[in-house]
Amino acid sequence: MTDTVPAPAGFFWGAATAAHQTEGGNWNTAHWADEYHPQATVREPSGDACDSYHRFGEDIALLAAAGLDTYRFSIEWARIEPEEGVISLAQLAHYRRMIDTCRAHGVEPMITLHHFTFPRWWRARGGWKAADSATVFANYVRVACDILHDVSWIVTINEPNMLLVNRESTIDTGVGLNTHDETDEVLARAIAAAHHAAMAVIREELPGAKAGWTVANQVFQAVPGWEAQRDLWQYWREDFFLEQARGDDFIGVQSYLRTIIGPTDDERGYGPQDWPEGTRRTLTSWEYYPEALGHALRHTQDVTGGIPMVVTENGIATADDAERIAYTTGALQAMASAMGDGADVRGYLHWSLLDNYEWGSFEPTFGLIAVDRVTFERTPKPSLAWLGGWARSAAIPTSGRS
Ligand code: BGC
Repeated sequence: MTDTVPAPAGFFWGAATAAHQTEGGNWNTAHWADEYHPQATVREPSGDACDSYHRFGEDIALLAAAGLDTYRFSIEWARIEPEEGVISLAQLAHYRRMIDTCRAHGVEPMITLHHFTFPRWWRARGGWKAADSATVFANYVRVACDILHDVSWIVTINEPNMLLVNRESTIDTGVGLNTHDETDEVLARAIAAAHHAAMAVIREELPGAKAGWTVANQVFQAVPGWEAQRDLWQYWREDFFLEQARGDDFIGVQSYLRTIIGPTDDERGYGPQDWPEGTRRTLTSWEYYPEALGHALRHTQDVTGGIPMVVTENGIATADDAERIAYTTGALQAMASAMGDGADVRGYLHWSLLDNYEWGSFEPTFGLIAVDRVTFERTPKPSLAWLGGWARSAAIPTSGRS
């Protein structure tokens, strides 16, 4: 029998998706332009994705039927503001229908305003580095607030730290999330300014909402003796973004893996270490390391000073659903242990509800639900009901040690 602890009162359970990865036909984004460029580097473009633009009702119904109570999804800036300053009321109404559909199923929507993708015009005018980018982003956020009056949880920007290292439209075409080695302090500060401008708008327009951003936690560990270099490596790739959340209502913790920093042969002399031959890997070629979530929560708590946390993404790309359940059990155990030590965690949202477009390929399957690539038929995997079971029992598995 699995050991458990009761979940705190009000603890919520659900799953997450993002517009570009599920909707299909998201042609007005710069990502789409890159995917269909003659020199595109992605293995395949997003195309119709999961056709969730039309089938979101099925997605939400399946989530609710499993016993989950929260759905995190993103609204697409490129649809809402197809040209700078031009607002599509029809697209706003579309996203409002998604929120209403959640409500009809007793599901709490958590809305992400920006999940990696942006309109073509935004890139053409200089993206985050344009002098007025925070104002332009905040204008979009103000428009979006029109449909969010009853939404309790709002994410301004998803994984700002990954925006720094994602090149073109791919984050994992074989090399893995943790191997990019570029940082850009100017870009980091520009994205932080956009976040703060968005927070100010949300506080004004939606005083009852809880708002914050989500950060990719890479669990940077040091080869013994390389702690100082690890800290240097980590600052602009993670901690700067955690620090920015100190005045927010919550922070989203997103955890999949760890990254070990130590000596390298390049000019810098330190960086991520290669995994030894035989390391257990997932379909994104990341190390199988469910314990990452516990480390991510503890580190986030330390750097933010303890603002409330929500696990806004955690999961595994695998074709073997039993492995997904095993990985998630390990992650939930690590979460329970961190909570036992005082981590203030308000909810757990699995990545992802659906097998979807994984930024360059449909191959790495993260979903609790399979999606037929031709008919778009949804087939729940056993992990969906399994996760729903934890929600229904209002308990969290422990390793027996927490
Ligand atoms: C992103 C998702 C992505 C997932 C798995 C996160 O970095 O927010 O869009 O699909 O990780 O790679």
